[in-house]
Amino acid sequence: MSHRILIFDSGLGGLSVARAVMHRMPGAQAIYAADNDGFPYGDWPQDKLVERIVEVLGRLISLTVPSVVVIACNTASTLALEALRQRFELPFVGTVPAIKPAAEASKSGIIGVLATPGTVDRAYTQALVDTFASHRTVVLHGCKNLAEMAEHCLRGLPVDDEALAAEIAPVFVQQGERQTDAVVLGCTHYPLIADRIAEVSPWRVDLIDPSDAIARQVARVADSGGAVPQGSADPPTAVLTKSSRDFVRVLAQEGFRRNDLIVL
Ligand code: DGL
Repeated sequence: MSHRILIFDSGLGGLSVARAVMHRMPGAQAIYAADNDGFPYGDWPQDKLVERIVEVLGRLISLTVPSVVVIACNTASTLALEALRQRFELPFVGTVPAIKPAAEASKSGIIGVLATPGTVDRAYTQALVDTFASHRTVVLHGCKNLAEMAEHCLRGLPVDDEALAAEIAPVFVQQGERQTDAVVLGCTHYPLIADRIAEVSPWRVDLIDPSDAIARQVARVADSGGAVPQGSADPPTAVLTKSSRDFVRVLAQEGFRRNDLIVL
């Protein structure tokens, strides 16, 4: 018996985490689940989004019987992790903006955080800033279109350099001699287009991608004895909440085949 890891996001962004998990845990069975019918999560009212996430996860957990659930979405984790842990007796690993490593990595003392408007508004995110970066200048920016742009890139659709540059521009600030030198990729979609983000950045910065740290945490939880192995030797599979040929094609390229489709 191996571990069956359910990796959940609103769209394709969680693939950045899925890749890292599959790399670190080659013997585990990965199941990728996207609530693509609810995408993007960034603009949802908070109460409705918690309800939605708890409902979708309930369906996914009954369907897939995972040993560990990874919420590979900052917008969902910063809002609903507590509700999920209360509701389901399973280990959950969340994804929250990597503000602590950015605050440690920065030499200039100015760090940027790119995330969805929802994540930027969360009390959870503000608490991370207060706890780990109160000695830093933190520029939080809610990107209206960046997750969607990442989805477009993954599907092979064109994304304009100028539009991309405009999405990230607000976190590049200059204060006298000092300028932003570390930028948190605070949405799991963004590491998937890190090269494009680097290309259109006004100057070179450290782009902080938490995927490996999350994969390490998943492995720790899976090996801790708190997770019950449920996996089989089946290949990685994927579950969607809305039929989409594009999604199935991208997921197949990543090694996931769709074997179930839930429509809510
Ligand atoms: N991938 C999700 C995150 O990490 C957000 C994308 C969305 O807006 O749904 O925040």
